[in-house]
Amino acid sequence: MAFPQNFMDELIARNDIVDVVSSYVQLSRKGANLFGLCPFHSEKTGSFSVSPDKQIYYCFGCKRGGGVINFIMEEENLTFPDAVRFLAKRAGMEIPEEDGDQEAGRRRARLLELNREAARFYYQLLQQPEGDAVRAYLAKRKITRQTAVRFGMGASPNAWDALLTAMTRRGYTKKELLDAGLVVQNRNGGLYDKFRNRLMLPVIDTRGDVVAFGSRVLDGSEPKYMNSSETPVYSKRRVLYGLNLAKKTKRPNIILCEGNLDIVTLHQAGFDNAVASMGTALTVEQIRLLSRFTRELVLCYDNDNAGKVATERALQLLDNSEFTVKVLQLPRRLVDGTYVKQDADDFIKFQGPDAFERLLTGSENGVEFRMAQVAGKYDLQNDEARVAYCEEISTLLASLPSAVEREIYTTRAAEVARITPEAMKLEVQRAFRRQAAREKRAQTRKDLNPAAALQPQERSLRYENLRSARAEEGIIRLFLLDESLFPSDPPLTPEQFSSPLLGRVFSLLWQARKDGRPPSLAALAGSLTQEEMNHITSVCQHPESARNASQALSDYIRIIRSEAEKRSGREMDPLLAATEKYKDKK
Ligand code: CTP
Ligand code: MN
Repeated sequence: MAFPQNFMDELIARNDIVDVVSSYVQLSRKGANLFGLCPFHSEKTGSFSVSPDKQIYYCFGCKRGGGVINFIMEEENLTFPDAVRFLAKRAGMEIPEEDGDQEAGRRRARLLELNREAARFYYQLLQQPEGDAVRAYLAKRKITRQTAVRFGMGASPNAWDALLTAMTRRGYTKKELLDAGLVVQNRNGGLYDKFRNRLMLPVIDTRGDVVAFGSRVLDGSEPKYMNSSETPVYSKRRVLYGLNLAKKTKRPNIILCEGNLDIVTLHQAGFDNAVASMGTALTVEQIRLLSRFTRELVLCYDNDNAGKVATERALQLLDNSEFTVKVLQLPRRLVDGTYVKQDADDFIKFQGPDAFERLLTGSENGVEFRMAQVAGKYDLQNDEARVAYCEEISTLLASLPSAVEREIYTTRAAEVARITPEAMKLEVQRAFRRQAAREKRAQTRKDLNPAAALQPQERSLRYENLRSARAEEGIIRLFLLDESLFPSDPPLTPEQFSSPLLGRVFSLLWQARKDGRPPSLAALAGSLTQEEMNHITSVCQHPESARNASQALSDYIRIIRSEAEKRSGREMDPLLAATEKYKDKK
């Protein structure tokens, strides 16, 4: 880590976690901690906690946690050095010069500048003879010049090195062009433009930076769409195409579509609230991003199987969120005797903006969408199918969180199945009890098998020796609680820890003590990944009593040492190792 330690300590001390988090989340006190709605996942009751004593946050729902720097990294979508800079500015601190991380910040800024130059290059070519083919394509798709300008569209010429040459001439290095994903390398190490003879769609984030490019071929060849790869300035999970414009909409909601050109057409038709996740399923990061701009989402995915699966997945992600969610289903269109799916772009073209406006107004909510999906599976003229329908729909109805919703939709389902509401209600109650029983069984299983519950979430962090790992966790908690309990020499080596992560955390904390600094989790932000940090903060949620602390400490040390001895014994005795292996096979 390139920032000096004393600077980092002061930075953390001057950015109290409660103050920082409070400017994003409304917190209220409950005992020693403060609670609020988690900014990292959607929820209605607050499981996000902040501990002023430990200077950490932790969400009991999504199990993310860390110190103040982690919080800013996650919330502001920043790298570690950028989060440090952000907090330094907030606390009015000067950032020490001459360090490698500032260098990283400068590199990032260069990449963004390069992307912007590239976008300008493509944009200018669109007006030149080299842009003829793309202009013709835009005309064919009925995209006006004004719309093309609003989206900053461009043309990549039909050549191998047009961008490469132009940007090199402007002082960008080959490495920068590669890092930005604008050129690619062939087997012989030669470089060539990634985007050639395509309609260029710059991807602009909500800060107005050009972070990536989407692009479309002009004919039927493959791949139809080609997007930037992930780069230091672009993570597709965190960006939505069109949100730079849609964030300014006057409409009360945001429409989520599948395709880039759907967005373009919708904006052109007056629906300036449309965005698309480019070729990926909706992510939690995108939902978090959207929550800054709207409370209502309209899902407008393709009316085919893939689109329905995408809708269901998005609904699940948005379940229990603070968003109101609607589903806009685009009708299929009759072409030569068969019904074909149409996307928003097709629909606007054939039916016009007014028809789309009507669909938008009439779009159903998530429950209605799911109910229609279930009803669509059964031939309700057939008695047997009606019985099966009742069974499946009652499971869906029983899972609705609100009693009012359950009641309203139970009546509707009864109408669909042509049975009395009372009979349907009984069916739903039965399903409700079945679900409760299933949940109880699952809980019992969990209670009987605490080992599973104690494992870290992240698979790569799984404990190999649970007995030792629990003691190792205890050591870390005790160290953070009261380091004066510990002797002046480390009682354990990191190698004695069965969990490499816990061993590493222990030695990092010990190092801080040796340097005469207070051991704190928040200071580890630069040394641990977010997943590792999530786990360590969850470990620190378990209480460690100060009263029996020295007894606990010696117990923990004893356990860790004895488990470590067992391990090294096994390593040293090949005969024993062979027997163990044999045992495993049997
Ligand atoms: N997509 C992609 N890579 C592909 C195909 C699609 O990233 N090879 C993404 C693009 O963002 C595209 C979206 O998925 O906009 C939807 O793809 P598709 O339905 O195939 O295209 P349309 O949006 O209908 O494209 P068009 O109308 O231009 O044919
Ligand atoms: Mn299309």
